[in-house]
Amino acid sequence: MKYGFFDDSALEYVITTPKTPLPWINYLGNKEFFSLISNTCGGYTFYKDAKLLRLTRYRYNNVPYDNNGKYFYIKDNTDSNNQVVWNPGWQPVKTVLDKYECRHGLGYSTFTSSKNDVETKVLTFVPMNDNCEVSKVTITNNKGTDALITLFSYVEWCLWNADDDMKNFQRNLSTGEVEVTDNGSTIYHKTEYRERRNHYAIYSVNAPVDGFDTSRDAFLGAYNGPDSPDAVAAGKCTNSVASGWSPIASQQINLSLKPGESKTFIFILGYIENPEDDKWEAPGVVNKKPALEMISSYKDEAAVDAALAELKNYWKELLSNYHISSTNEKVDRMVNIWNQYQCMVTFNMSRSASYYESGIGRGMGFRDSCQDLLGFVHLIPDRARQRIIDIASTQFQDGSAYHQYQPLTKKGNSDIGSGFNDDPLWLIAGTSAYIRETGDLSILKEIVPFDNDMSVAKTLMEHLKCSFNFTATHKGPHGLPLIGRADWNDCLNLNCFSEHPGESFQTFGPSEGPVAESVFIAGMFVKYGEEYAQLAELLGDKAEAERAREEIKKVYEAAITAGWDGEWFVRAYDAYSNKVGSKECEEGQIYIEPQGFCVLAGIGVKEGLAEKALKSVEERLDTKYGVMILQPAYTKYHLELGEVSSYPPGYKENAGIFCHNNPWVSIAETVLGHGDRAFEIYKKTCPAYIEEISDVHCTEPYVYSQMVAGRDAKFFGQGKNSWLTGTAAWTFVNISQYILGVYPTHNGLSIDPCIPEGFGDFQITRKYRGAVYNISVKQNGVQKGIKSLTVNGKEVSGNIIPYEEGVKEYTVEAIMG
Ligand code: GLC
Ligand code: GLC
Repeated sequence: MKYGFFDDSALEYVITTPKTPLPWINYLGNKEFFSLISNTCGGYTFYKDAKLLRLTRYRYNNVPYDNNGKYFYIKDNTDSNNQVVWNPGWQPVKTVLDKYECRHGLGYSTFTSSKNDVETKVLTFVPMNDNCEVSKVTITNNKGTDALITLFSYVEWCLWNADDDMKNFQRNLSTGEVEVTDNGSTIYHKTEYRERRNHYAIYSVNAPVDGFDTSRDAFLGAYNGPDSPDAVAAGKCTNSVASGWSPIASQQINLSLKPGESKTFIFILGYIENPEDDKWEAPGVVNKKPALEMISSYKDEAAVDAALAELKNYWKELLSNYHISSTNEKVDRMVNIWNQYQCMVTFNMSRSASYYESGIGRGMGFRDSCQDLLGFVHLIPDRARQRIIDIASTQFQDGSAYHQYQPLTKKGNSDIGSGFNDDPLWLIAGTSAYIRETGDLSILKEIVPFDNDMSVAKTLMEHLKCSFNFTATHKGPHGLPLIGRADWNDCLNLNCFSEHPGESFQTFGPSEGPVAESVFIAGMFVKYGEEYAQLAELLGDKAEAERAREEIKKVYEAAITAGWDGEWFVRAYDAYSNKVGSKECEEGQIYIEPQGFCVLAGIGVKEGLAEKALKSVEERLDTKYGVMILQPAYTKYHLELGEVSSYPPGYKENAGIFCHNNPWVSIAETVLGHGDRAFEIYKKTCPAYIEEISDVHCTEPYVYSQMVAGRDAKFFGQGKNSWLTGTAAWTFVNISQYILGVYPTHNGLSIDPCIPEGFGDFQITRKYRGAVYNISVKQNGVQKGIKSLTVNGKEVSGNIIPYEEGVKEYTVEAIMG
């Protein structure tokens, strides 16, 4: 069952009922000011950091779901005996609407609704160049008679630090402060401005108002929720000026509309920072100059429309970096719109703020951010460059790294510390992807601090060497890399041995175990070690490349011997040196990660092990909704394995379909030339292909979720944790570079598709290193292999399009065969 449809020409997903199985959200903002907005107008706003600079409140864990947002109330007083209150997004009053449509577009959302022949259209977005969210609200009277309407706005301020805001009531209920100007048209939220903050927030409307409220209790009534505000029931605000408690911003506008008449209002929710020495315009009165400038930039519809057009152009331009036209509508839709869009959102948010990540939890993950980069480096290479430097700056001198860092300070997070032994290698993955994309070797010469300490800074290439050496020098009894606290699978905690609730699986126990090893990291070392060796070669350091390849050989050997279980790759060795992910185990006999990653790294291909490993995946882990992370599920808690066995069977890392590593298996299949199977795996978790089962899947049908419940779970097929997942980047890498086969190498783009039978011919436009490539691929009856490649009319040998300085356009014809 569906709850909407894709409108590809508008680049929108259209939701046709507010009662989706879960809130279906969108993200507004591209640089520093962001909002989450659901299809019922729930959500919140922050500046740069969802924990430290939260503008509006949201209540996670609330009943019902999705219960704070930025709301408009329409009170239709036309029939004085039958006044009706409703919201354009249905929540929070939940009056049944005559019409409802939410369109989530790229960086904006619209809500078109009507009740009793009054129609509202709300457009909301964050403009490209301002720290504000703009909402354009148009109310139209479609009745045959005059309509009497009162419009109320409502936002609830968060007292900046979202974590403290929901805990520290003894202080917070006394700190709230506001200012009100223009009889309420503009409301300034200035809590803590008098002391150490030099920022405030505004909520403003471009019209005179008939009333306002800034005290939540005055507007709602102390025992009401936003579903039944006293002020709305009474038909008027109370002009309250908050002092402590919970400050809000609400404006009241009375309207009389003739038949057919429309009125439009522009609301701005903005963030303003003043210079330290220019905070006040008078004692106790905030300097409003920058706020007034912001307000005047959006004072009329033309200005708002121009800002929206600018936003839409930005996206159009961005997405034109990789564009496919094929006979597969769903592939085109994902590649051209939604997958790239999700990659950008994960770039902006890492794992910080979604409806499942509360914005107060983890900062940016080292490994997560490096992998996210793989999905957006072709879109915003300059920002990817900066991101790499930021991430590398949190590395330690021995090559290990803080597992997380705070986006605002860019400092490593010492609560979680280091010891996740896959982390260092992801830095190589991200850097290599950046250089293959841009050819910019200068990044390797950048001087980058360790642990943010400039006195011990070295070149980025030295950082990569530390990464490489960390793995090379931290190996266990079988010559496989030590796992530390965990590798990619945060829940495989082989050195943890936690026996008491409340202990963090991530940080409990010794981080370094001298015994527990990871075959997955072995796969990474072979893959990214080789990428490191290539970088060394590019810098002219042949000896280092050779040394690296010697080290890689040793780990490769270990992977195909100690790391091989007979029919598939072992997952790990635990702290007692017992196998994890082996036929010898009672539960958890086979794990997905080493099968996908070892094979995509090329391990066991020539020995015939790769074929076997992927066959085993198909036989043991595959389901109709995707490939499960392990089987059989753990039915009891294993002290020696940690969190993986703490989840009920079928969920999360315990035999869920962890979407992130499905593309690894799909890529692995392309390495073996299996186009049919690679594409089959791609489709199983692909949002556009599973839109039809939105009632089972539950999460947004336009983005990937982190996890889909596995076969052992009661709710098999149900998605969880949508939006912020490395799945976005990896699926984009998979479809764009491996299945469609346009892969950036150091020497230029290579063309090597691996597509299913009957996929058909396709064209790709790819911007790369300042040139446009118009690539047309003819399938010619095969799944893999390039028979001929013609570039600008000349046939070239091999499958790499030679890069020529100065050439701005390449016409490429590739014939498979
Ligand atoms: C979460 C984490 C990621 C980890 C994965 C598997 O998605 O963000 O870092 O690799 O879980 O445990
Ligand atoms: C839990 C989750 C895992 C996540 C980790 C870090 O272990 O199961 O997916 O990566 O927390 O937040």
